[in-house]
Amino acid sequence: MTLRQSALAVQAHAYAVYSNFKVGAAVQSKSGTIYVGCNVENASYPLGTCAEAGAIAAMVAAGESEIMAVYVVTDDPIPATPCGGCRQRLAEFGASDVVVTMGSSANENEKSMTLAELLPSAFLLQSAGGDDEC
Ligand code: THU
Repeated sequence: MTLRQSALAVQAHAYAVYSNFKVGAAVQSKSGTIYVGCNVENASYPLGTCAEAGAIAAMVAAGESEIMAVYVVTDDPIPATPCGGCRQRLAEFGASDVVVTMGSSANENEKSMTLAELLPSAFLLQSAGGDDEC
């Protein structure tokens, strides 16, 4: 399965009964394995989790920690970009040149951006104590 097919397949499992905005995410790790996640909402709205967070958790639970490629899909005909929190989550495990492709279940539209483009000047562990100012 391609990254897009994997993201589309897991998007179908999204539990998005409050927002009705289903998201599927697929991350390919260094080993080539594809890990997937979908958003899982909760009646206590802030407790919901994003699709990217689920895919990253699956990857880490499997013992991997390096992301090589990402695909995120929603039903929006205009490909949606990851939220700010998920940009930070992805930057933790992916190099700045890792490509995040955003797609739509409604059409073949795609948009691709690197992690550096999505999250310039990312705060990373090696940034702590560096010369970045808050
Ligand atoms: N959502 C994601 O799963 N990933 C993102 O990057 C953006 C937002 C989810 C959270 C919530 O369940 C729904 O989309 C609407 O915000």
